[in-house]
Amino acid sequence: MADLTTNYMGLELSNPIVAASSGLTGTIEGVLHCAQAGVGAIVLKSIFEEQIISEVEGLYPVDHQSLAHPEAYDYIKAYGRDHAVDRYLTLIEQSKAKTKLPIIASIHCETAGAWTEFAAKVEDVGADALELNVYLPPTQLVQSAADLERVYHDVVQVVKKTVKIPVSLKVGWHFTALAGFLSTLGQKVDALVIFNRFQRMDIDIDKVALISGSASSKESELQEILRWTSILSGRISADLAATTGIHSGAGVIKALLAGATVAQVATALYRHGFGHMSEMLNEVVDWMEAHGYNSVDEFRGILSRAKTNTPDAYERVQFMKLSVSTDPK
Ligand SMILES: Cc1cc2nc3c(=O)[nH]c(=O)nc-3n(C[C@H](O)[C@H](O)[C@H](O)COP(=O)(O)O)c2cc1C
Repeated sequence: MADLTTNYMGLELSNPIVAASSGLTGTIEGVLHCAQAGVGAIVLKSIFEEQIISEVEGLYPVDHQSLAHPEAYDYIKAYGRDHAVDRYLTLIEQSKAKTKLPIIASIHCETAGAWTEFAAKVEDVGADALELNVYLPPTQLVQSAADLERVYHDVVQVVKKTVKIPVSLKVGWHFTALAGFLSTLGQKVDALVIFNRFQRMDIDIDKVALISGSASSKESELQEILRWTSILSGRISADLAATTGIHSGAGVIKALLAGATVAQVATALYRHGFGHMSEMLNEVVDWMEAHGYNSVDEFRGILSRAKTNTPDAYERVQFMKLSVSTDPK
């Protein structure tokens, strides 16, 4: 029988497929569906820094000036009335009580501010790990790369001092020297989750208005994830969670071959339902048996850049091969 067990950030998972943070993991019903479907671990829906701050308003006064986005004030007041913090802590407690799965809490943030004390509460109520989603698109004209990167370092530094549970960091890829940046961040966290899928923007030409792009990924988006997973795997100390575009067992296998420790999935579960989990797991097991692998550890990272014979030439050769080909795929 194929051994799918996976150690992710020191947590023992029955298999390497993790339910990514999404609306599906924001209620106890959703968590139970994920557990029954057979995921290896669950990342809960993120709670937002602004939600946390709004509820500790008595301790940390919230005003228009103290928010990065003043127009969010009304929403935040509504969050506060909603008792989002208490509900989130209850969701962690219930998830731990009603499943045997590792439960990873998720905090969506953009500063190393007052909210970080909340990380300790997440740990107190039993979360097995904490995923930080630092959502800072590099859109400020006056912000240098160094200033932007410092925020990420500050956030992980404060949170790692606050909690003992493993901490992962979900990041985007819009950085000037991505591998170097992630390598230094990777020394401070237990896992990197690559990559954050920033909200897409589109334009409605009839209404001449900006509209949101699709929240769902396309399978082709996985290629960029594979590239950076294979570049980083085996060369940084943190585990790697691949996310975006993993829609099938084949996608999971590719992520593992590139060197991911786990594969996080959201769109596939939205599109095909929770039953899709067993199809993905079966596809992984069938592939392992066909290729003679007994455990995922046997093939994880064998196509990573660290395992290629000539890592420095790897990318250039791929590009040269493509450039001389007359039939682009
Ligand atoms: C409806 C929806 C809600 C999401 N909410 C969150 C969230 O709260 N926090 C977060 O870190 N990621 C969130 N994500 C992103 C997913 O965790 C995941 O990284 C992304 O969808 C790419 O994976 P996929 O291709 O399997 O969908 C959300 C995704 C979707 C589709």
